Amino acid sequence: MRILSGIQPSGFLHLGNFFGMMQRGIRWQEKGETFFFIADFHALTSVGDPDALRRNIREAALAFLACGLDPKRAVFFRQSAVPEVLELTWLLSTVTPVGLLERCHSYKDKLAKGIAPTHALFAYPVLMAADILLYQADLVPVGVDQKQHLEVTRDLAVKFNQTFGPVFVVPKEDIAENVAIIPGIDGQKMSKSYGNTLELFGDREEFRRRVMSIRTDSTPVDQPKPVAGSVLVSLYRLVSEPQELEEFIAAMRRGGVGYAALKKELLSKLERFLAPFRERYEELKAKPGLVEEILEEGACTARAAAAPTLESARRAVGLL
Ligand code: TYM
Repeated sequence: MRILSGIQPSGFLHLGNFFGMMQRGIRWQEKGETFFFIADFHALTSVGDPDALRRNIREAALAFLACGLDPKRAVFFRQSAVPEVLELTWLLSTVTPVGLLERCHSYKDKLAKGIAPTHALFAYPVLMAADILLYQADLVPVGVDQKQHLEVTRDLAVKFNQTFGPVFVVPKEDIAENVAIIPGIDGQKMSKSYGNTLELFGDREEFRRRVMSIRTDSTPVDQPKPVAGSVLVSLYRLVSEPQELEEFIAAMRRGGVGYAALKKELLSKLERFLAPFRERYEELKAKPGLVEEILEEGACTARAAAAPTLESARRAVGLL
């Protein structure tokens, strides 16, 4: 079983990335053949500053390693270090209906936000399909925001196989209901572009400030607090033991505990949970060259895994 997933280097990674994909992806290391990559070609559709991109790539790699990615078990690389993916993108684009891309929510959302509709932004899902199909992945752990891109990937794999013969494994998405959408501090999906993230390895004081500013209602201290739809509960659930969660919810239902106290309690559990990852992050950060070495070695393995697929695809369409 081959498991693959990617992450865009767009600054500090956040709790949504961690619970939606990284933690679950990393767990597969024990059970299957895992491939993880930094989607730096994809990031070019949004990051316009070369120095920022370079910093973000290193940051994403450090974060993934600090969160438990083991380069001895998983293949870890930069998307752009395997240029074969661009050739496959072209081959797949020959079976990609324009209408399919026009219906993609993430494309429409980006246009609605005023981002210029470049060809790269439009073709983003085709590159993502190539990422997955190039390595013949069976399973792709992602958050629910990537579900439609996975559907596009499957469509393209099936269409290519029907047109040119069986070249690609048709992959499945791995989305866990309980972490499909991690809410941000304002209650919307946690996302860099909404400015509502809780960063795993960013400034600690800012982290504290953000937890204390999580959106709540105006129930007075002595009154029972609503539990359904509470961001505090959604986040607390992720980082506490069942017994602790029960007590937290009981305190909300009872009333008499204010939101400030509940947020402090959440903050302490978040910090307890993140402590070992933050420690490892600082250790890795202090080792010059290590991240680059790991990514280069991963790229060699990834290129070797990609070569036979690309050759089959070239042969199938008549280029060989
Ligand atoms: P990206 O970089 O936006 O996010 C990385 C992963 O984190 C998940 N995620 C969330 N999950 C739950 N709740 C949230 N609030 C939340 N925010 C982010 C995302 O669903 C994702 O799994 N296009 C991809 C990167 C990519 C990729 C691929 C993924 C490129 N090629 C091939 C898988 C396979 C992206 O932008 O993810």
